[in-house]
Amino acid sequence: MPNSFKRTLVTAALPYANGPVHIGHLAGCYLPSDIYVRYLRSKGEDVRFICGSDEHGVPITIKAKKEGITPQQVVDKYHKIMGDSFKEFGISFDVYSRTSSKIHHQTASDFFKTLYDKGSFTEQVTEQYFDTEAGQFLADRYITGECPKCANPEAYGDQCERCGSTLNATDLINPKSTLSGSVPVKKETKNWFLPLDKLQPKIADYIGKHADWKSNVYGQCKSWLESGDGLQPRAMTRDLNWGVPVPVKGAEGKVLYVWFDAPIGYISATKELLPNDWEKYWKDKDTRLIHFIGKDNIVFHCLIFPAMLMEHGDFILPDNVPANEFLNLEGDKISTSRNWAVWLHEYLLDFKDKQDVLRYTLCANAPETKDNDFTWKDFQIKNNSELGDILGNFINRVIVLTNKNHNGLVPEASEYTKQDLLILEEVAKAPEKIGASLEKFRFREALGEMMNLARLGNKYLAEQEPWKLIKSDEKREKTVMNIALQISANLAIVCEPFVPFTSKKLFELLNLNPLKWNSARNTNNLAARHKIASDAPILFSKIEDNDVQLQLEKLSNTKKQNASENTSIPKAKAETSFDDFNKMDIRVGTILEAERVPKTDKLLKLKIDTGFDKRTVVSGIAEWYKPEDIIGKKVSILVNLAPRKIKGIESMGMILMAENAQGELSFVIPTKDNSNNGSIIK
Ligand code: 2FM
Ligand code: ZN
Repeated sequence: MPNSFKRTLVTAALPYANGPVHIGHLAGCYLPSDIYVRYLRSKGEDVRFICGSDEHGVPITIKAKKEGITPQQVVDKYHKIMGDSFKEFGISFDVYSRTSSKIHHQTASDFFKTLYDKGSFTEQVTEQYFDTEAGQFLADRYITGECPKCANPEAYGDQCERCGSTLNATDLINPKSTLSGSVPVKKETKNWFLPLDKLQPKIADYIGKHADWKSNVYGQCKSWLESGDGLQPRAMTRDLNWGVPVPVKGAEGKVLYVWFDAPIGYISATKELLPNDWEKYWKDKDTRLIHFIGKDNIVFHCLIFPAMLMEHGDFILPDNVPANEFLNLEGDKISTSRNWAVWLHEYLLDFKDKQDVLRYTLCANAPETKDNDFTWKDFQIKNNSELGDILGNFINRVIVLTNKNHNGLVPEASEYTKQDLLILEEVAKAPEKIGASLEKFRFREALGEMMNLARLGNKYLAEQEPWKLIKSDEKREKTVMNIALQISANLAIVCEPFVPFTSKKLFELLNLNPLKWNSARNTNNLAARHKIASDAPILFSKIEDNDVQLQLEKLSNTKKQNASENTSIPKAKAETSFDDFNKMDIRVGTILEAERVPKTDKLLKLKIDTGFDKRTVVSGIAEWYKPEDIIGKKVSILVNLAPRKIKGIESMGMILMAENAQGELSFVIPTKDNSNNGSIIK
């Protein structure tokens, strides 16, 4: 941490409480923020880690509609599921709050009121899209259309996920309501806007001081500020009924824009965590505020939230906003709606106790500078060939040899060779190297450095061969094993931010109380004759080809399912009663005659033997069946349908046909020959 700061407040983007957590979330911001915080804690720094559920906005109300429950029920359900998943994967928030809480409503409301009283907003009546079928205004994700910047046909009313532009719903080309599918109309409504155009010089000045930010973040900010007309005023209120009510007169029925209230959620959550001490973390310039986010959140955290904070005046500004790019899965964009994801709660069912393997794989492949891909094959390699063969194998050999040759007691080191001294020097440098990478938010590099320590340990054992020395030079063997044990202890320390469950196991194996980061600068954390555990469990059991295959099959089934859903099978009709169904008299019949109805493409005139009469039916099957091919064919016929005149012919009933998603028809017929004409179909 740069010396000028006394404490750090780390936030991780508040995820929408509208679905479970998947690997994309974890890789995007929760894992890197957790690694960072664990590192700072281990260094003994004053740090707090803040997160919670984002429970407002259109994503929630859309989900509620889809699930047929209330928005409150949606957020209650997913807040719990998400919180549990984070805990299970060791994401060590100091608080996991929620924006539907009273404290948040109060904080967000007060924040808005302060800006309102200062005259920061402009009040404007503008034309916004309105869905006449649904009877409501369409903002944000309630409306989609073509992005005016990149022509993505599925851009949202507030943002294009393809090119990252922030949009206003009225910018969209060919807008469509996601509520009813209808084309919306424009209707006047009053909203309160943050004049980002006027604030641009202040914002640009702020960004200009942060050229040290990750290049993907700084570059995006610069391009927003410098492209086209620069920043535009943005409405901070919405005509919706789910959210924080706008606390001013004349705003009844309106709520705060979710991107206004959500980042204030970081403040509310800190208040919840530290009711008496929260101000220190938000108002003291000696606090360093760091927001970990995904790339789609950059504009809100780097431009809009700082603008809000500047206007308010009481708060510090974000010092850094390390944003990751996106993680793909097996070459395809992760998508909740297409179920193209690895869900954390499902992962644990298949890979019990392997949280660290996922943490490791996601960190090793973190989309730090560009989008990256998660594949199950790579996951297997990371487990078997890296964690297992390098870290697990080293620890296992050290524990086994110590027990076998020294009754589990740390042997005493005596004379160090030149090479020993070089190794010890290298070992002592590890925390510095790893820390330097972490402080630059280079998590992949940091993880690599951590594994280099395990590699060094393996190489040392392979070169020194203590299993041979025990027969030829006991004294030397003791020194070698002492060094190997010290490396193990230091690994337990420095692997903690990345693989905390493993770190805990290592400390248990070494029978040590967990040690802090700076202890890894020493190479004497284990005293001679200290007793270690007598068992050496396999730390990373093998992941077999079969396990990978199962996951790939799961994904392949998802693909098939998506493909079949895409053929738009119509939804089931509304419920009907048995009595109504029973009114229909459906029988087996046989086609006796068939001919085209003149001057039509679709109609055939059929003569049907129903078993109790012979009648004429006009049927729209000419596109699918030639008259000569269907004579003698069995059919199902609704015989008590009221007669209808079709093209001048009286049609007495209807033939039952199955229609597939492409609109192709085929006869619905009994499958056994024992169904005579007149047999009842029920
Ligand atoms: O993109 C998202 O999932 C948002 N819910 C992130 C909000 S971050 C912060 F502002 F709360
Ligand atoms: Zn776009």
